[in-house]
Amino acid sequence: MVTEVIKTNELHKMDPVFGQLSFDNHEQIVFCNDKDTGLKAIIGIHNTVLGPALGGTRMWNYTSEWEALNDVLRLSRGMTYKSAITGLNLGGGKAVLIGDAKTQKTPELMLKFGEFVNSLGGKYITAEDVGMATSDMDLVRTVTPYVTGISESKGGAGNPSPVTAYGVFMGMKAAAKYTFGSDVLEDKVVYVQGIGNVGEALVENLSNEGAKVYISDINQERLEEVRDKYSVEIYGGNNLYAEKMDIYAPCALGATVNDFTINQLNTKIIAGAANNQLAEEQKHGKMLREKGIVYAPDFLINAGGIINVYAELENYDRKEIMRKTENIYNTTLEILKNAEINNITTHQAAFNIAQARIDARKNEK
Ligand SMILES: NC(=O)c1ccc[n+]([C@@H]2O[C@H](COP(=O)([O-])OP(=O)(O)OC[C@H]3O[C@@H](n4cnc5c(N)ncnc54)[C@H](O)[C@@H]3O)[C@@H](O)[C@H]2O)c1
Repeated sequence: MVTEVIKTNELHKMDPVFGQLSFDNHEQIVFCNDKDTGLKAIIGIHNTVLGPALGGTRMWNYTSEWEALNDVLRLSRGMTYKSAITGLNLGGGKAVLIGDAKTQKTPELMLKFGEFVNSLGGKYITAEDVGMATSDMDLVRTVTPYVTGISESKGGAGNPSPVTAYGVFMGMKAAAKYTFGSDVLEDKVVYVQGIGNVGEALVENLSNEGAKVYISDINQERLEEVRDKYSVEIYGGNNLYAEKMDIYAPCALGATVNDFTINQLNTKIIAGAANNQLAEEQKHGKMLREKGIVYAPDFLINAGGIINVYAELENYDRKEIMRKTENIYNTTLEILKNAEINNITTHQAAFNIAQARIDARKNEK
């Protein structure tokens, strides 16, 4: 028998979990399977130095398990830095359910998922993300206390999406102040890509302020619904990135800022709700900087949702939720200035502050 000698670097490429590019010293990754309900889920716990790993559950029809794993690793890591920079005592975690939320999400599947969350004893606390509704979290709550984002009638803080959108709006205004000298968005051309829960609420804020808003989504019905509610236009072209605009607001999925799109982007600012907008943080952060595009870091400006669900754990009221969310304006402005002074990308400036907070807590322990 001939034994093939595999070189170490090739072995590395084959490592399915710890060797993945998106693996960044995650503490724990939990694979959940249940034959009866068809549940296939991955829970990523990135870091629990500041507190329990809190992050939403996403249900998506991933084309492969690799794609799902990569997504949960990137998302859970992002949560660590989001909570750290927002000053919350939470770590970073996230869960993905593999499947189509429209056709495969059943109460039985959600309950089984809740049981898996419960088995972690509070190390991971879930909430809603893409493909999930407040009612799903209410269901999960019947089998575990380790869930947030439940409805107000059940003692929760309700749907976090409008709060997330308000925080994004604040971050966008701060980026406008930095870029144009004024945070008034009236007549600014804004493209909102993805008009789901957060996107629609952002569109509402923007149209109230008189911005010229174009919306895009893969769901035509949704586009018409949102267009009919607000004074906005549906984007009819086939390459949004190349359109001349003041602000590009990615509010669908991540990694839309990449080699391909940056070369075409014709915007002054990127500020949106989607997590992990930069396909590669270092590389694409630098490319944006070189192109003179001001990037409001996603994990900084989309923290309204986590502030909202954190209120359920800390028992603070709506006034405090909105005060903390409004403060995203000040933090964003500080970060943009800090990046300029230190000659670093805005993503790096935000990341450095978040990491310093985690390191300080670790040293205290
Ligand atoms: N819900 C929150 O509070 C919250 C908090 C922080 C971050 N986020 C992030 O914001 C983003 C939006 O979240 P949401 O809760 O509004 O999700 P959602 O599922 O309600 O909406 C997503 C929308 O994007 C559309 N979409 C998907 N692919 C698209 C594409 N290629 N082009 C255009 N549109 C596309 C979908 O049709 C849908 O309308 C996600 O990346 C999510 O992780 C959400």
